[in-house]
Amino acid sequence: MNNKKRILVLNGPNLNLLGKREPGIYGNDSMESFLAHLRESFPEVEVEYYQSNVEGELINKLHEVGFTYDGVALNAGAYTHTSVAIHDAIKAIEAPVVEVHISNVYQRETYRHTSLITGACVGVIGGFGLNSYKLAIEALLAL
Ligand code: DQA
Repeated sequence: MNNKKRILVLNGPNLNLLGKREPGIYGNDSMESFLAHLRESFPEVEVEYYQSNVEGELINKLHEVGFTYDGVALNAGAYTHTSVAIHDAIKAIEAPVVEVHISNVYQRETYRHTSLITGACVGVIGGFGLNSYKLAIEALLAL
């Protein structure tokens, strides 16, 4: 029997371009190569990955995994700062969601200082580069 915990890493808009997009802020590594590292780091966890640039698709994914998975590490990208709908989707599901940011949003433009999703999440991790995802998974496993 497979007793592995299941955690979804869920990435929002423009995060498909990691490694190419503003490397001074987001680094040179692609999510694909980092995912391999994540899976090696947590052999006891099934780390699933999904990315979409479309708000509704992120919401559909939260609904899909939200009653069966053990947690979600969500980097909603710019939707973090705008989306009541993603906030509501996080509230609607049972799985704990950790808000993730690669950059330290508080060192950046003031419009990034407001998150509409933090209040629906169990916690927030940001500013540690791609390692923020690893810390989020550790936090989910420690709940
Ligand atoms: C981000 C920060 C957001 O402000 C931005 O829109 C992103 C990425 C981060 O991971 O640092 O797309 O969530």
